[in-house]
Amino acid sequence: IRWAVIIVAAGKGERAGGAGPKQFRMLAGRTVLARSVQALAAGCKGAPILCVIGEGDHAAYGAALGPDAERSPLLPPVPGGSTRQGSVLRGLQSLATARMRPSHVLVHDAARPFASPELITRVMDATLRTGAAIPGAPLADTVKRVGPNGLVRDTPPRTELRAIQTPQGFAFDSLLAAHEKAFASGRADLTDDAAVLEAAGLPVEIVDGDLENVKLTRPEDFSAAEARLSLALE
Ligand code: C5P
Repeated sequence: IRWAVIIVAAGKGERAGGAGPKQFRMLAGRTVLARSVQALAAGCKGAPILCVIGEGDHAAYGAALGPDAERSPLLPPVPGGSTRQGSVLRGLQSLATARMRPSHVLVHDAARPFASPELITRVMDATLRTGAAIPGAPLADTVKRVGPNGLVRDTPPRTELRAIQTPQGFAFDSLLAAHEKAFASGRADLTDDAAVLEAAGLPVEIVDGDLENVKLTRPEDFSAAEARLSLALE
């Protein structure tokens, strides 16, 4: 068994406001990307970590990680695509040609700096059992599907729904094959990797997510995360 980690950090983060992509912003003294890399390095000790970054973001990447950018377990970053799905595919293709082709891979959003070692272990253990595992948390809100006319189409039963997080774990070859198939069939807008596997008709197991493993998306997410980190320090 040989694990590798892909951290997708090629988004523009336009919903988060502020200057520049959200993964390069500071959060209580360290960048979001540095925190995400640290979380994954701690959770899957020793596995190589590949960051996928935007074209032209090399300097921002180097500045966000400091001297660690050059150190193990980080691999040299590769450029992403125009969608998250495209960025993951680039990362997978790069790992496929690496000297040490992995047998299993975790795919993580740079925008989730709070993945705990326990969560990462849960995902890795289930992935080894089933070939594909993702963390999901129950929803507080009711979710409705809405039509283009602004009218409600339907209301899926809340007990059947989960809010899906990363890292998501997969057998490497099946994720790469599913991504190449999705890309060849013109799909580019799938918002997580499990959806790519589902599109190929493969099963995906859900493990318990963690409500603290939030994705930083809007400006309020940053202020809430700062407040939580400063409380944790006291
Ligand atoms: O936009 P969203 O919050 O869903 O992005 C999730 C993750 O995917 C972020 O870490 C973002 O940097 C990454 N991403 C990417 N390439 C894109 C779009 C998003 O790597 N083209």
